[in-house]
Amino acid sequence: MWSSFLGVVVLSSVVSACTPSVTTASGTHAPVTICSGALIFADDFEEFDLEKWQHENTLAGGGNWEFQYYNNNRTNSFTHSGRLFIRPSLTSDQFGDSFLTSGHLDIEGGAPADRCTNPQWYGCQRTGSPSNILNPIKSARIRTVNSFSFRYGRVEVRAKMPAGDWLWPAIWLMPAYNTYGTWPASGEIDLLESRGNRNLINNGVHIGTQEASSTLHYGPYPALNGWERAHWVRRKTSGYDRDFHRYQLEWTPDFLRFSIDDVELGRVTPGNGGFWEYGGFNSNPNIHNPWRYGTKMAPFDQKFYIIINLAVGGTNGFFPDGIYNPVPKPWSNNSPTAATDFWNGRSGWLPTWNLNQNDGQDASLQVDYVRVFAL
Ligand SMILES: *[C@@H]1O[C@H](CO)[C@@H](O)[C@H](O)[C@H]1NC(C)=O
Repeated sequence: MWSSFLGVVVLSSVVSACTPSVTTASGTHAPVTICSGALIFADDFEEFDLEKWQHENTLAGGGNWEFQYYNNNRTNSFTHSGRLFIRPSLTSDQFGDSFLTSGHLDIEGGAPADRCTNPQWYGCQRTGSPSNILNPIKSARIRTVNSFSFRYGRVEVRAKMPAGDWLWPAIWLMPAYNTYGTWPASGEIDLLESRGNRNLINNGVHIGTQEASSTLHYGPYPALNGWERAHWVRRKTSGYDRDFHRYQLEWTPDFLRFSIDDVELGRVTPGNGGFWEYGGFNSNPNIHNPWRYGTKMAPFDQKFYIIINLAVGGTNGFFPDGIYNPVPKPWSNNSPTAATDFWNGRSGWLPTWNLNQNDGQDASLQVDYVRVFAL
């Protein structure tokens, strides 16, 4: 009698214990009460929950003149066997080859879910011409912008990288409210980026499927971005496209730390001078510090939301010119006709995507789950 009574008391006190957490969250899927260590957002992709994930619908090319456009289409994003797939396809499959050089794409739609999500960089309407073709690839980018954004916590995403030349998968976080101003003043947290090329060599180093990276972007304006001091890569000779790995972020009021499969990749622990000093921006007294009234973690002391996407190519240098690839890179980053050059080189890259096998699984970014825990 006594011992079972004790058992009930202990059990009930464990169940009801809630240590308040420093983590905060908002959005339609954010919990009302946040207990320390609790799972506060999760998706295991048993179904495609578009209440959690909003599709981007835009031709914008990510600000890097990437070659894809993002749409809400089950050819390009779907769940199957408990996994999310983001799968590229050819725009010409839908509209025909000649559409690329002469067609007009107006992707603004009337339904709430069909609105163009980014008008920047000719993102809602484009007309193709022979030198400046329409985005030749269709793909997807999904985000928790309405459902869930959070400040501080632990993120774990179990994912498998795509293989195929010039594919650029990313799992990342962007600021929900741009509290310190527009990019990159409010920061960007890139949990994971990689390149789909199976044998891409830059200065003797494999930078394709054998490399995964994490990066922070932060600075007072686009030309002044301190990412070089917050960028880490890890190489794995068997390739991140072979298996699922756990990509992790630990984000506290003191540091940001990235890990893969529980092994730390890199971290930033800013001093009292915060990211202003960490980025070296304090050396120029003429630049106004947008973070001066934030904490030392600013701009990473505000809420961010999660993004998962598969991009292709682009001209910002993520795929440097002059690198070795079995079939050379078909565009240069200063070419005014980069998308056309890329498309004209498709006999080189398209066979590496294996789109006709297994519903294009090789070229798909696959995600098993996304989990966010409170600190
Ligand atoms: C979805 O994509 C496929 C493949 O490109 C295309 O055939 C289909 O028409 C698209 N659906 C819509 C509604 O646009």
